[in-house]
Amino acid sequence: MASINTSLTKLLGIKTPIVAAPMAGASGGALAAQVTLGGGFGFLSAGYDSVDKLKHEINVARDLLRKDGDLSTVLPIGVGFLVWQLEKSPEAGEQLLLTALENHVQAIWLSFGADLGRWINFIREHDPRADSSDAVKIFVQTSIVEEAVSAIQSWKVDVIVAQGNEAGGHGLGKSLPIINLLPLLDSVVSKLNGPPLLAAGGISSGAQIASLLTLGVSAVVLGTRFLLSPESQYSNVQRQALLEAESSQSVRTMAFDYARNTLGWPQGIDGRGLRNATVDDYERGEEIRTIQEKYVNGVKAGDKDRIVIWAGSGVGQMKEIMSAKKIVETLHAECVQSLRNASQLVL
Ligand SMILES: Cc1cc2nc3c(=O)[nH]c(=O)nc-3n(C[C@H](O)[C@H](O)[C@H](O)COP(=O)(O)O)c2cc1C
Repeated sequence: MASINTSLTKLLGIKTPIVAAPMAGASGGALAAQVTLGGGFGFLSAGYDSVDKLKHEINVARDLLRKDGDLSTVLPIGVGFLVWQLEKSPEAGEQLLLTALENHVQAIWLSFGADLGRWINFIREHDPRADSSDAVKIFVQTSIVEEAVSAIQSWKVDVIVAQGNEAGGHGLGKSLPIINLLPLLDSVVSKLNGPPLLAAGGISSGAQIASLLTLGVSAVVLGTRFLLSPESQYSNVQRQALLEAESSQSVRTMAFDYARNTLGWPQGIDGRGLRNATVDDYERGEEIRTIQEKYVNGVKAGDKDRIVIWAGSGVGQMKEIMSAKKIVETLHAECVQSLRNASQLVL
């Protein structure tokens, strides 16, 4: 099968411009490694994890990628961090980042914090390979033009991910849809001679990937699609709910952060997930304590009408569970076919 050549595939040495998002509570080492084995690039999420948990997940990836204990060669996966979690407890945050660097992961992804620059400086100062071509590649995900400008001019990141309103999980509530956000960020990247620009949000098919490549992105980022793989850490109940969901069930809300007590996100950030009784209660103005009690019981019982099931607006088009490797291979083949079909339109 043909490769697809973009500035991101060259930067990372991969075959297909498909990246699996770091998903807190859902992507560990197995998912990240299988995406990379499929020809794309996989992130695991350090999200709310401890250093020990992160080490464990990196080792899972290392075994699957057959990199043994050799820390001198790059480990072709990335680790994603929620910056507001690092900021909550900076010493623990630094230990998490050092763990990723010691393990020579190829990339680090940062999002959702008050001061991303502080953490990017820390990473560069502590990366033993900072001055070589093996230096860790820094990805920043954003929906905000000003943040993209800082990412290029001040932080000099290696990759910018544009996150559209369609994206599953957390994001800017007022973000534009990806098709409107991309031209804004693309013009900033072009004007400032910035790094590769990626698109995230609502993507479910190879044809959509082809259309985004023709809009000028260097790769796409998918999250929800990979939840529907055996390697994701979602439960069978969560996966089944995703399979059955229509796209209209995917809504932006703070209900689950109140229910789980995971508050502390930067201003304007909420989460996109499947509407259920937790969301209905929250919108009706139910007491938060009652919502929390029902949520805790719902988690114990595995009740899909109470628990959180993050999902982007493309969820309605996802009707099959497949290995993460097969998802990448299938999307790649569809994308190549769509690009070939599109080129036939030109006389
Ligand atoms: C379950 C889940 C957890 C997520 N966790 C994170 C995270 O820890 N950090 C982050 O930057 N983005 C996170 N996201 C958002 C993704 O980075 C990405 O923008 C999104 O998945 C793309 O949209 P899609 O899900 O429609 O493909 C998460 C998304 C999902 C679905």
